[in-house]
Amino acid sequence: MQRSDSDIVFQSYGRCCNTEQFFVDFYDRFMGSSKDIRALFANTDMKAQRHLLRNGIMQLVLHARGMPDTKLRALGKSHDRNGYNIHPEWYRLWFDALLATLRQHDKEFTPEIEAAWNRAILPGIEIISQAY
Ligand code: HEM
Repeated sequence: MQRSDSDIVFQSYGRCCNTEQFFVDFYDRFMGSSKDIRALFANTDMKAQRHLLRNGIMQLVLHARGMPDTKLRALGKSHDRNGYNIHPEWYRLWFDALLATLRQHDKEFTPEIEAAWNRAILPGIEIISQAY
């Protein structure tokens, strides 16, 4: 990852994360991608969950900017087989929903920005999913 990737991603997220609708659209997409995923959030307070996710994505962005992985390891633990039991292959659907929602909301989105998101946050997603 280049230093500029994390800057590009930080700014792209900044253009999106202050709109609650960004997180509404993300969860509509993510839950629409699989019945199993929808079932996991059946009893979830989605308003609270949107706020938690806003922070969770920020943790991925900050990790790309050099922050230690402590917070991501904690997310790995809550999502592991003894926690929410989030199968590693579901993270691809999560990331696809995120990219589609960024494409929708980031007015400056380009293929270069998409490539920067890939390079910057896939390593952090791996930390969470591999804790399974
Ligand atoms: C809870 C972030 C991927 C399902 C949470 C929370 C955060 C978070 C911050 C709340 C804090 C916690 O309980 O630890 C993330 C991030 C992800 C990710 C950053 C991607 C790297 C996934 C995936 C699924 C999922 C792929 C399902 C397929 C859940 C569930 C909860 C949760 C079921 C608990 C909801 C509840 O309290 O009812 N996630 N998550 N997450 N996440 Fe994730």
